[in-house]
Amino acid sequence: MNKSIYLALDFPTWADSKQFLESNNLQGSPVKVGMELFYREGPYVIEKLKENNHPIFLDLKLHDIPTTVMKAMRNIAKLEVDMVNVHALGGSEMIRSAKEGLDIGGSNGHQTKLIAVTLLTSMDNETMNSELLLPGELDKNAVHFAEFAKQNGADGVVCSVYEARQMKAACGSSFLTVTPGIRLKQASSDDQKRIATPNFARENGSDVLVIGRSVTKAADPYQAYKQVVKEWQHGIKT
Ligand code: C5P
Repeated sequence: MNKSIYLALDFPTWADSKQFLESNNLQGSPVKVGMELFYREGPYVIEKLKENNHPIFLDLKLHDIPTTVMKAMRNIAKLEVDMVNVHALGGSEMIRSAKEGLDIGGSNGHQTKLIAVTLLTSMDNETMNSELLLPGELDKNAVHFAEFAKQNGADGVVCSVYEARQMKAACGSSFLTVTPGIRLKQASSDDQKRIATPNFARENGSDVLVIGRSVTKAADPYQAYKQVVKEWQHGIKT
C-alpha cells in the first residue's frame, strides 16, 4: 500500500464515479470513498469498486462514543477495504474501540488499517485557537494527537504534508502518513489551507497521497493524474 495515490471519489453517486473512472481510463486505480458517496450508495459502492479491482480507503472519519464506534468498525471490517479512519479528537478509548471492532470483524486474514485524523487540513492555527479553544501551535497539537493515536492502536494518521516529517520522528518510520491537501502547481487551493504539490509530499515524509479536485476538476483528468503519478513516484517536476 505504501506510496499509493488514493483518488478522492467526491461524486454524488456510483454512476457518476463509474463514468468518471471509465471515461478517464482510471479503472483499477486506488480510490478514496468519502461521506458524500458512501451515504448515498452504502456498501454497494464498495462492492462495485472491489469488483473492478480498486484498492479502497474508506474515509468516514468516525467520531462517536467508543461502543458505537467499535460496532460500526466491526461491520466496516467486513467490507475488506485497505484503510478506514476516525477523528483522534474522539479520544484514546474511542481509538482503542475502533481497533477492537476491526480486529473482531475482520475475516479471511484481511487487516484493515486504522488511520486517525489529527486536525483537518482545512483547519488553520487561528481557527484551532479561537474556535476549538485549543491553545498552542497546530503542528505540535497534531503530533500530540498522532502519538496517542499510535499508542491506542492506530496504524497511521491523516495529516498535512507539512507535518509528515514530525509525525515520522514522533511515531516511527512505519507509522503511515496519509496526506490530503495536494495540489498540482496550476490548480486552485479551494478550501484547503495547507496545500503541497505531489513532489513536495514525496520529499517530505508522506507515505500515501490523497488527491481529489486537482484531478477530478482538471480540464483533462487523465493527464492531471499522470502528472501526479510522475511527480509522486518518480520525483519528476512538471
Ligand atoms: O479535492 P481535494 O484534493 O482537496 O480532496 C481532498 C479529499 O481528502 C477530500 O475528499 C477530503 O474530504 C479529504 N480529507 C481532507 N483532509 C483530511 C481528511 C480527508 O481533505 N484531514
